[in-house]
Amino acid sequence: MSALEQQLEAFRQQVTSVDSEADLQQLKVAFLGKKGSVSQLRRQMGKMKPEERKAFGAAFNRCKNQIESELEDRRKHLDQQARLRDLERTEDLTMPPTRPRFGTLHPITRTRRELLATFRRLGFDVAEGPHIEHEAYNFDALNFQPEHPARDEQDTFFVRGQHGEEGSGIVLRTHTSPVQIRSMLTRQPPIRVVAPGTVFRRDDDPTHSPMFHQIEGLYVDRDVSMADLKATLLQFTSAFFGTGLDIRLRPSFFPFVEPGAEFDMQCPFCRGDGCNVCKTTGWIELGGSGMVHPAVFESVGIDPEEYTGWAFGFGIDRMAMLLHGIPDLRLMFDGDVRFLEQFPC
Ligand code: DAH
Repeated sequence: MSALEQQLEAFRQQVTSVDSEADLQQLKVAFLGKKGSVSQLRRQMGKMKPEERKAFGAAFNRCKNQIESELEDRRKHLDQQARLRDLERTEDLTMPPTRPRFGTLHPITRTRRELLATFRRLGFDVAEGPHIEHEAYNFDALNFQPEHPARDEQDTFFVRGQHGEEGSGIVLRTHTSPVQIRSMLTRQPPIRVVAPGTVFRRDDDPTHSPMFHQIEGLYVDRDVSMADLKATLLQFTSAFFGTGLDIRLRPSFFPFVEPGAEFDMQCPFCRGDGCNVCKTTGWIELGGSGMVHPAVFESVGIDPEEYTGWAFGFGIDRMAMLLHGIPDLRLMFDGDVRFLEQFPC
């Protein structure tokens, strides 16, 4: 009997200093486990007389139950303490939760996606090309003569080679037009693609950035005409800016098209009346375009007697500025969240 009481006493001394679930479990094993000190005492029962055994059995069970219930009390106590510690850490449970901050799509990304959606609806595929491009694709195959000023170091970032080593240089592409070459080398007419992407030029002022974005369009098939070009551009501007805005083509020169034209759209703000966005002209210059030059077809192995085609290219950044009324190109690339947050998705 007194052995049981001693064990209970010993247990009580230890249980009050236990402060983790794992230690509590260990203590339980030490007393009540198969080889635990209380369980050991049970063996003595074998040598006892029947009445003694009965009384010991009852006392043993009481002791065991007592230990179990005190273990449980201790566990509850530990739980409660842990909860209180949590409460101390949380300063004010009535405070509203901090909301997660969601990012927004950059206005250029949004504009690019909208442009692509519009051209997809018109039946165009999307093509892409590398930022680091062969000079042969960026210039030569596009019919730029070796002495063409656009190749000059003032405009072009050369990665390898220099102006003069015709065809062998590697450049940061100065426009998306090399994707025309890549598309014509990998596809068979009819070809109808648009190619959006980043381009690079050694330019840096309020209206020019050394890195900007363009979108290129190309259509090659039998009997493609300048009328198709104008109709497609008009379809595009109406889908994008709404109907009722006229477009116009002005003769211009680009080595890879003949005839070449710049295309303008009536200003979507004043609808042609003249305002400060269009510098009172009523027109907004969008980009360049024209009929694919026979020399370009020859450079990619397409027969210019059999096929004709048109191409266009314009700046995505300017389009985004127009759409959202953004006054300075540099805002687009500063990464200032105060600016970006103004374009919630
Ligand atoms: N690549 C020209 C540029 O960056 C733009 C351009 C003009 C693209 C005429 C065309 C085009 O496809 O036909 O200035």
